[in-house]
Amino acid sequence: MGESLPDAGLNPASGTAGPDGATLHVPALCRTPAVTPARPRRLLIVFHSQSGRTARLAAAVAAGARECGGIETLLRRAPEAGLDDLLGCDGLLLGTPENFGYMSGLLKDFFDRTYYPAEGRTVGLPYAVFVSCGNDGSGAVREIGRIARGYGWKEVAEALIVRGEPDDEALQRAHELGAALAAGLELGIF
Ligand SMILES: Cc1cc2nc3c(=O)[nH]c(=O)nc-3n(C[C@H](O)[C@H](O)[C@H](O)COP(=O)(O)O)c2cc1C
Repeated sequence: MGESLPDAGLNPASGTAGPDGATLHVPALCRTPAVTPARPRRLLIVFHSQSGRTARLAAAVAAGARECGGIETLLRRAPEAGLDDLLGCDGLLLGTPENFGYMSGLLKDFFDRTYYPAEGRTVGLPYAVFVSCGNDGSGAVREIGRIARGYGWKEVAEALIVRGEPDDEALQRAHELGAALAAGLELGIF
């Protein structure tokens, strides 16, 4: 004998009474869930910057994300970001300078501190990366990608690599990256 569960509005077998009293069957994905989320969806931006370039990109990313009113955006320097921030977010943007063909030590430290406590708890988290570098950037992107695969995250935008001093175009692209992640979260497309 099966237990009777409340219909949260997502059961394709359930229906709504039509004008003539007949039952209308509405496709599940078109229907508004009866239960609304307890809090707005949250985008976490974790970054490190030694000489300020990645910080400027992070500010532009955050400004783009904040244009999306329905999303809460948290901007955290890597040493100040922790497990609670990670477990409490619905999307993640990671920013780093490239150092010695890798991410910065402090972004790596964020991963070191959260990897095992978060294991299995952030699978499917949508994320993207932005990197400031002198002339390459690919090593940082590649190595963050390897770690992200370990967490089970899903890359939802191409990495933004900015070589040298971020100019207006680079800041605009960073702004667009933040806006894209926020819009995707708000619309629930990730
Ligand atoms: C210790 C160190 C190592 C670096 N290694 C690389 C590197 O491997 N590839 C690269 O393209 N740039 C490298 N750079 C340059 C930085 O990535 C670049 O200056 C970046 O824009 C700095 O970002 P920030 O201002 O956010 O610290 C290195 C810089 C430092 C200080």
